[in-house]
Amino acid sequence: MRVGVIGTGHVGLVTCVALAEIGHDVVGVDRDQERILKLQDGRAPFFEPGLEPLLEKGLNQRLLAFSVEPESAVADREVVFICVGTPPRTDGQANLVAIESAAREVARAASGELIVAEKSTVPAGTADRIHRTIALEHRSSRNGIEVVSNPEFLREGTAIEDALRPSRILVGANSPRGHEVMRRLYAAAIDAGSPLVETDIRTAELAKHASNAFLALKISYVNALARVCERTGADVDSIADVMGFDPRIGRAFLDAGLGYGGFCFPKDLQAFERLADSVNYDFPLLREIRRLNDQAVEAVFDNVEDGLWNLEGKRVALLGLSFKPGTDDVRLSPSLALARRLIDAGATVAAFDPEAMMAAKEELPELELASDVFGATNDAHCVVLCTSWPQFRNIDLDLLKEVMAYPMVVDGRNMYDPAEMGARGFTYYPTGKPPIR
Ligand code: UGA
Repeated sequence: MRVGVIGTGHVGLVTCVALAEIGHDVVGVDRDQERILKLQDGRAPFFEPGLEPLLEKGLNQRLLAFSVEPESAVADREVVFICVGTPPRTDGQANLVAIESAAREVARAASGELIVAEKSTVPAGTADRIHRTIALEHRSSRNGIEVVSNPEFLREGTAIEDALRPSRILVGANSPRGHEVMRRLYAAAIDAGSPLVETDIRTAELAKHASNAFLALKISYVNALARVCERTGADVDSIADVMGFDPRIGRAFLDAGLGYGGFCFPKDLQAFERLADSVNYDFPLLREIRRLNDQAVEAVFDNVEDGLWNLEGKRVALLGLSFKPGTDDVRLSPSLALARRLIDAGATVAAFDPEAMMAAKEELPELELASDVFGATNDAHCVVLCTSWPQFRNIDLDLLKEVMAYPMVVDGRNMYDPAEMGARGFTYYPTGKPPIR
């Protein structure tokens, strides 16, 4: 099928390469000329495992093209995806200005029948707005243009895999034609076993908020449990294992630590809160999820302070800056929130991350960056494990102890075994378990 994608950020670009990989003819457009030039050259503008090879493959097979002209993603296409950013406004509501302008571009360039698929995460009711904007702008043959909602469930770091083999495909449409076109578009994944859920548009829009908020709830629940474990001497990971064996609960997203970050959960929760407000439903649980997430960073900070006493003049090394492993994304990363907190309290903060150093330096220029683990931990009074990059599991702990000023580790992702850390002579603060002093 001929597909257009407006917006080549994380969601848009992954959508482009995944659709080309299953044989569709895809044109991605973006206003950012520099980004488009890079993409035309086969270079990904951000790190996502597996993205660049598929980008090159799609370009070589001529199934993938990029342009700054919105018309090329609309004019002769059967489906056009809107994948532009919906960043939070200062009041927490999603800023939908880019969605409106994409809708206008679609209206101006559309010539015949077209399905407009909203993929950006948006509050319920946005598809109606897109439809109305298109109708106002495109007075003549607006009947052929239909808006559907097709939220993405991509996780950064495994986005390609998630796009090619989705856990579920959700399509909200208000007509059989909308569903039929989207079924054809995703036929390969559906045949390969991905469940398809077909709903009306509002249900699809709300389902995305509901899923993300529930995942964030699991994380905040286990982090609150961690605080109780710390005060009672219980072990949060073992409790999570016990809970996880119950198929009604499941073990995923019950890892206690520094909490969630990234550009999805924090922003979606706020937008969901604003949406509940706007329909006069008081939903304090959503606020509580956020409060507990902020508290998770504070709890790790308290452990650093407990171990070091005064932070002025102390050197703290952070291992991991991205909001989770497998990405260079530092947006709303809990590691950076902790770094800011430590710097404000007078500590010098050095850091190492396998992918996210440049992005982190831009966000927080006061950070001292090192080119490897031992560069960051050299002379440190405390090391904090912030992101669970797999390579941090295999650090040479004897060497670590040797290079540090004090042998103290605060584990914000519970990557190490407390007994082993104790046996090697570290002062060790895990999350949600008794410290080894
Ligand atoms: C999340 C959802 O998982 C996707 O399904 C969704 O499509 C996406 O948001 C989106 O809305 O676009 P993502 O933000 O890439 O994906 O990251 P996750 O893998 O969900 O992790 C979110 C955060 O939770 C990370 O900071 C991670 O470290 C943290 N986390 C996760 C925990 O602190 N504990 C856990 O047990 C699991």
